[in-house]
Amino acid sequence: MDGNGRWAQKRGLPRTEGHRAGEEALFDAAQGAVELGIPWLTVYAFSTENWRRPPDEVRFLINVIADNLLTRRRDALHELGVRIRFIGRRDWRVPRWVGRKMDEAAELTRDNTRMTLTVAFNYGGRAELVDAVRRLVEEGVPARKIDDRAIRARLYAPEMPDPDLVIRTSGEFRLSNFLIWEVAYSELVFTDVLWPDFRREHLIEAVREFQRRERRFGDTDARHGGGEPAGSDLGSQ
Ligand code: FPP
Repeated sequence: MDGNGRWAQKRGLPRTEGHRAGEEALFDAAQGAVELGIPWLTVYAFSTENWRRPPDEVRFLINVIADNLLTRRRDALHELGVRIRFIGRRDWRVPRWVGRKMDEAAELTRDNTRMTLTVAFNYGGRAELVDAVRRLVEEGVPARKIDDRAIRARLYAPEMPDPDLVIRTSGEFRLSNFLIWEVAYSELVFTDVLWPDFRREHLIEAVREFQRRERRFGDTDARHGGGEPAGSDLGSQ
């Protein structure tokens, strides 16, 4: 959800106003995703690197997430049938009261089936892989048993399907440590729209773009593919 700061600067507003507007955009996009029948939506809300931002901005971001998403929007999302979940590190930097609100939102919405909204908070794709490797070592898994499946089972949300589509806003052409393992075969759509201006129409446009793509998953022809390669098959790609 990139471009909040630039959106605010263009209007002569503090960067934090961009995050506030970004939260509105997220709610609209989430409603749009539900309407489109998209079963999984994952948003990058706060990265393991975002702690480097000025303390006021960090505090504001955490409050926007906690006060809006986890309080005001939580019930609306629940009514829409959205299951809310979080991926990322729960380390000492995540205030305890925020962790509690995350757990409450996840608990309240856990049986909802219309869409899973996964919020990546204090998340980094490399950190996720580091944590998976740590778990393998802690569990004493022998090297010969380590394959794609063993690693996937130790990601933050192992049952979450790999994303079909990744949308990057604000004219940036990077993945910035987002779901590094999971996006191996995702289609990437880049848009110049700054995140606070993003609405469900932009989501629909990105899905249309996705539908025009031919996905081969390493095969020569989409017709042969039959979908994403599973498990250790990836080793021969
Ligand atoms: C990147 O834009 C955006 C973020 C670091 C924060 C994203 C958070 C929100 C949209 C707030 C709402 C989120 C939830 C889950 C309720 P930037 O600040 O780096 O923008 P810039 O590249 O223009 O400086």
